[in-house]
Amino acid sequence: MKRHDQRHNDSHNRNAQHREHHEPEEGQRPVPKLVVVWIGILLVWGVGYYAWQIGKPMLGGDSRSVVEAPATGDDIDGGAIFSARCSACHQGNGQGVPGAFPPLVGSEWLLGDPSVPVAIVHDGLQGEIEVEGTTYNGVMPAFGGQLSSAEIAAVLSHVRQEWGNDAEAVEADRVDAHAEEYGERGAWSPDELRDTFEAP
Ligand code: HEC
Repeated sequence: MKRHDQRHNDSHNRNAQHREHHEPEEGQRPVPKLVVVWIGILLVWGVGYYAWQIGKPMLGGDSRSVVEAPATGDDIDGGAIFSARCSACHQGNGQGVPGAFPPLVGSEWLLGDPSVPVAIVHDGLQGEIEVEGTTYNGVMPAFGGQLSSAEIAAVLSHVRQEWGNDAEAVEADRVDAHAEEYGERGAWSPDELRDTFEAP
Protein backbone atom coordinates (compact mmCIF):
# COMPACT_ATOMS: atom_id res chain seq x y z
CA MET A 1 0.00 0.00 0.00
CA LYS A 2 2.82 2.31 0.93
CA ARG A 3 4.77 1.51 -2.23
CA HIS A 4 1.78 2.07 -4.34
CA ASP A 5 1.33 5.59 -2.91
CA GLN A 6 4.96 6.37 -3.57
CA ARG A 7 4.75 5.45 -7.23
CA HIS A 8 1.56 7.33 -7.65
CA ASN A 9 3.15 10.48 -6.30
CA ASP A 10 6.17 10.12 -8.59
CA SER A 11 4.15 9.85 -11.71
CA HIS A 12 2.02 12.76 -10.57
CA ASN A 13 5.10 14.96 -10.17
CA ARG A 14 6.47 14.03 -13.53
CA ASN A 15 3.19 14.96 -15.17
CA ALA A 16 3.22 18.30 -13.38
CA GLN A 17 6.74 18.99 -14.67
CA HIS A 18 5.61 18.12 -18.12
CA ARG A 19 2.76 20.59 -18.02
CA GLU A 20 4.95 23.55 -17.13
CA HIS A 21 6.18 26.00 -19.75
CA HIS A 22 9.74 26.07 -20.93
CA GLU A 23 12.14 28.38 -19.18
CA PRO A 24 12.23 31.74 -21.01
CA GLU A 25 15.19 32.00 -23.32
CA GLU A 26 17.07 35.11 -24.44
CA GLY A 27 18.88 36.20 -27.54
CA GLN A 28 17.44 33.63 -29.80
CA ARG A 29 15.41 35.90 -32.03
CA PRO A 30 17.21 38.74 -33.92
CA VAL A 31 15.85 42.35 -33.72
CA PRO A 32 13.33 42.75 -36.55
CA LYS A 33 14.78 44.46 -39.62
CA LEU A 34 12.03 47.06 -39.63
CA VAL A 35 13.04 48.29 -36.18
CA VAL A 36 16.70 48.56 -37.24
CA VAL A 37 15.74 50.53 -40.34
CA TRP A 38 13.48 52.79 -38.30
CA ILE A 39 16.22 53.53 -35.76
CA GLY A 40 18.49 54.34 -38.68
CA ILE A 41 15.98 56.77 -40.12
CA LEU A 42 15.54 58.50 -36.76
CA LEU A 43 19.30 58.81 -36.33
CA VAL A 44 19.81 60.31 -39.78
CA TRP A 45 16.91 62.68 -39.24
CA GLY A 46 18.17 63.76 -35.81
CA VAL A 47 21.74 64.34 -36.89
CA GLY A 48 20.60 65.97 -40.11
CA TYR A 49 18.26 68.33 -38.28
CA TYR A 50 21.02 69.23 -35.86
CA ALA A 51 23.45 69.90 -38.71
CA TRP A 52 20.82 71.92 -40.55
CA GLN A 53 20.30 74.14 -37.47
CA ILE A 54 24.00 74.91 -37.05
CA GLY A 55 24.62 78.61 -37.42
CA LYS A 56 20.95 79.54 -37.27
CA PRO A 57 19.75 81.85 -34.50
CA MET A 58 18.27 79.97 -31.56
CA LEU A 59 14.63 80.95 -31.61
CA GLY A 60 13.32 77.96 -29.73
CA GLY A 61 10.99 77.09 -32.59
CA ASP A 62 9.55 80.59 -32.79
CA SER A 63 9.57 81.39 -36.49
CA ARG A 64 7.29 84.43 -36.43
CA SER A 65 8.73 87.39 -38.26
CA VAL A 66 9.38 90.63 -36.48
CA VAL A 67 6.80 93.35 -37.15
CA GLU A 68 8.51 96.60 -37.95
CA ALA A 69 7.52 99.49 -35.78
CA PRO A 70 6.62 102.66 -37.67
CA ALA A 71 9.87 104.51 -38.23
CA THR A 72 10.41 108.00 -36.96
CA GLY A 73 12.41 110.64 -38.73
CA ASP A 74 12.70 111.30 -42.43
CA ASP A 75 11.91 107.89 -43.85
CA ILE A 76 8.49 107.31 -42.28
CA ASP A 77 6.68 104.41 -43.92
CA GLY A 78 3.14 105.58 -44.64
CA GLY A 79 2.15 102.08 -45.72
CA ALA A 80 3.17 100.63 -42.35
CA ILE A 81 1.19 103.31 -40.51
CA PHE A 82 -1.82 102.56 -42.71
CA SER A 83 -1.60 98.84 -41.89
CA ALA A 84 -1.26 99.53 -38.17
CA ARG A 85 -3.76 102.39 -37.75
CA CYS A 86 -6.29 102.47 -40.58
CA SER A 87 -6.67 99.09 -42.25
CA ALA A 88 -8.78 97.56 -39.46
CA CYS A 89 -11.62 99.86 -40.52
CA HIS A 90 -10.86 100.95 -44.08
CA GLN A 91 -9.50 97.46 -44.95
CA GLY A 92 -6.12 96.54 -46.40
CA ASN A 93 -7.35 97.15 -49.94
CA GLY A 94 -8.81 100.57 -49.04
CA GLN A 95 -12.31 99.46 -50.02
CA GLY A 96 -13.78 99.87 -46.53
CA VAL A 97 -16.90 97.99 -45.47
CA PRO A 98 -20.06 99.17 -47.24
CA GLY A 99 -22.39 100.92 -44.82
CA ALA A 100 -19.87 100.90 -41.97
CA PHE A 101 -16.45 102.17 -43.06
CA PRO A 102 -16.18 104.29 -46.22
CA PRO A 103 -13.71 103.40 -48.97
CA LEU A 104 -10.52 105.40 -49.45
CA VAL A 105 -10.24 104.27 -53.06
CA GLY A 106 -11.68 106.99 -55.28
CA SER A 107 -13.04 109.01 -52.32
CA GLU A 108 -13.65 112.71 -53.02
CA TRP A 109 -13.10 113.45 -49.31
CA LEU A 110 -9.61 112.02 -49.48
CA LEU A 111 -8.47 113.04 -52.94
CA GLY A 112 -9.52 116.69 -53.18
CA ASP A 113 -8.12 119.66 -51.24
CA PRO A 114 -5.59 118.04 -48.86
CA SER A 115 -6.82 120.29 -46.01
CA VAL A 116 -9.91 118.07 -45.80
CA PRO A 117 -8.24 114.69 -45.13
CA VAL A 118 -5.70 116.43 -42.88
CA ALA A 119 -8.58 117.77 -40.78
CA ILE A 120 -10.38 114.39 -40.79
CA VAL A 121 -7.36 112.36 -39.70
CA HIS A 122 -6.01 114.95 -37.26
CA ASP A 123 -9.30 115.75 -35.50
CA GLY A 124 -11.75 113.00 -36.47
CA LEU A 125 -15.07 113.10 -38.33
CA GLN A 126 -18.63 112.47 -37.24
CA GLY A 127 -21.84 112.90 -39.21
CA GLU A 128 -23.51 111.76 -42.38
CA ILE A 129 -21.32 111.67 -45.47
CA GLU A 130 -21.67 110.08 -48.87
CA VAL A 131 -18.70 108.28 -50.40
CA GLU A 132 -18.85 106.62 -53.82
CA GLY A 133 -22.64 106.58 -53.77
CA THR A 134 -23.07 105.03 -50.30
CA THR A 135 -24.12 106.90 -47.15
CA TYR A 136 -22.10 106.56 -43.93
CA ASN A 137 -22.83 107.89 -40.49
CA GLY A 138 -20.07 106.65 -38.25
CA VAL A 139 -17.24 107.95 -36.13
CA MET A 140 -13.77 108.41 -37.53
CA PRO A 141 -11.31 108.67 -34.60
CA ALA A 142 -8.84 111.56 -34.25
CA PHE A 143 -5.16 110.75 -34.69
CA GLY A 144 -3.69 114.15 -33.77
CA GLY A 145 -2.79 112.93 -30.29
CA GLN A 146 -1.27 109.64 -31.44
CA LEU A 147 0.60 110.40 -34.64
CA SER A 148 3.10 113.16 -35.32
CA SER A 149 2.49 115.66 -38.12
CA ALA A 150 5.10 113.84 -40.20
CA GLU A 151 3.33 110.53 -39.64
CA ILE A 152 -0.09 111.92 -40.57
CA ALA A 153 1.44 113.44 -43.70
CA ALA A 154 3.10 110.11 -44.56
CA VAL A 155 -0.04 108.00 -44.14
CA LEU A 156 -2.15 110.50 -46.10
CA SER A 157 0.45 110.64 -48.88
CA HIS A 158 0.35 106.85 -48.94
CA VAL A 159 -3.44 106.48 -49.20
CA ARG A 160 -3.71 109.33 -51.74
CA GLN A 161 -1.33 107.45 -54.05
CA GLU A 162 -2.25 103.81 -53.41
CA TRP A 163 -4.72 101.44 -55.17
CA GLY A 164 -4.76 103.66 -58.27
CA ASN A 165 -5.46 106.82 -56.26
CA ASP A 166 -3.54 109.68 -57.85
CA ALA A 167 -3.44 112.84 -55.74
CA GLU A 168 -0.46 114.91 -54.67
CA ALA A 169 1.46 114.01 -51.51
CA VAL A 170 0.75 115.83 -48.24
CA GLU A 171 3.54 117.82 -46.56
CA ALA A 172 4.19 117.62 -42.83
CA ASP A 173 4.19 121.44 -42.79
CA ARG A 174 0.53 121.47 -43.79
CA VAL A 175 -0.37 119.19 -40.87
CA ASP A 176 1.67 121.38 -38.51
CA ALA A 177 -0.10 124.51 -39.76
CA HIS A 178 -3.48 122.80 -39.30
CA ALA A 179 -2.59 121.74 -35.75
CA GLU A 180 -1.53 125.28 -34.92
CA GLU A 181 -4.67 126.85 -36.32
CA TYR A 182 -7.27 124.41 -34.96
CA GLY A 183 -5.56 122.92 -31.91
CA GLU A 184 -7.51 120.12 -30.28
CA ARG A 185 -10.91 121.11 -31.54
CA GLY A 186 -12.55 117.66 -31.57
CA ALA A 187 -14.26 115.87 -34.47
CA TRP A 188 -15.44 117.83 -37.50
CA SER A 189 -18.94 117.50 -38.87
CA PRO A 190 -19.31 117.27 -42.66
CA ASP A 191 -20.96 120.72 -42.71
CA GLU A 192 -18.12 122.29 -40.75
CA LEU A 193 -15.67 120.81 -43.26
CA ARG A 194 -17.71 122.31 -46.14
CA ASP A 195 -17.84 125.70 -44.43
CA THR A 196 -14.12 125.76 -43.68
CA PHE A 197 -12.50 124.00 -46.64
CA GLU A 198 -13.47 122.84 -50.08
CA ALA A 199 -15.13 119.65 -48.96
CA PRO A 200 -17.48 117.67 -51.23
C1 HEC B 1 -12.22 102.85 -35.93
C2 HEC B 1 -12.38 102.84 -37.38
C3 HEC B 1 -11.54 103.79 -38.20
C4 HEC B 1 -10.17 103.94 -38.21
C5 HEC B 1 -9.17 103.19 -37.35
C6 HEC B 1 -9.88 104.90 -39.21
N1 HEC B 1 -11.03 105.35 -39.78
FE1 HEC B 1 -11.18 106.69 -41.26
N2 HEC B 1 -13.20 106.67 -41.10
C7 HEC B 1 -13.93 105.84 -40.28
C8 HEC B 1 -15.34 106.14 -40.41
C9 HEC B 1 -16.46 105.42 -39.68
C10 HEC B 1 -15.44 107.19 -41.32
C11 HEC B 1 -16.74 107.89 -41.75
C12 HEC B 1 -17.16 108.88 -40.65
C13 HEC B 1 -18.55 109.43 -40.90
O1 HEC B 1 -19.42 108.66 -41.28
O2 HEC B 1 -18.72 110.62 -40.67
C14 HEC B 1 -14.08 107.48 -41.75
C15 HEC B 1 -13.76 108.45 -42.70
C16 HEC B 1 -12.49 108.65 -43.21
C17 HEC B 1 -12.18 109.53 -44.30
C18 HEC B 1 -13.15 110.36 -45.10
C19 HEC B 1 -14.10 109.48 -45.90
C20 HEC B 1 -13.40 108.66 -46.96
O3 HEC B 1 -13.75 107.49 -47.09
O4 HEC B 1 -12.48 109.17 -47.63
C21 HEC B 1 -10.83 109.46 -44.51
C22 HEC B 1 -10.01 110.21 -45.55
C23 HEC B 1 -10.30 108.54 -43.53
N3 HEC B 1 -11.33 108.06 -42.76
C24 HEC B 1 -8.97 108.21 -43.42
C25 HEC B 1 -8.46 107.41 -42.40
C26 HEC B 1 -7.05 107.17 -42.18
C27 HEC B 1 -5.93 107.72 -43.06
C28 HEC B 1 -6.95 106.38 -41.09
C29 HEC B 1 -5.68 105.90 -40.38
C30 HEC B 1 -4.76 106.94 -39.94
C31 HEC B 1 -8.29 106.09 -40.63
N4 HEC B 1 -9.18 106.73 -41.45
C32 HEC B 1 -8.60 105.29 -39.55
C33 HEC B 1 -13.42 104.87 -39.46
C34 HEC B 1 -12.07 104.70 -39.18
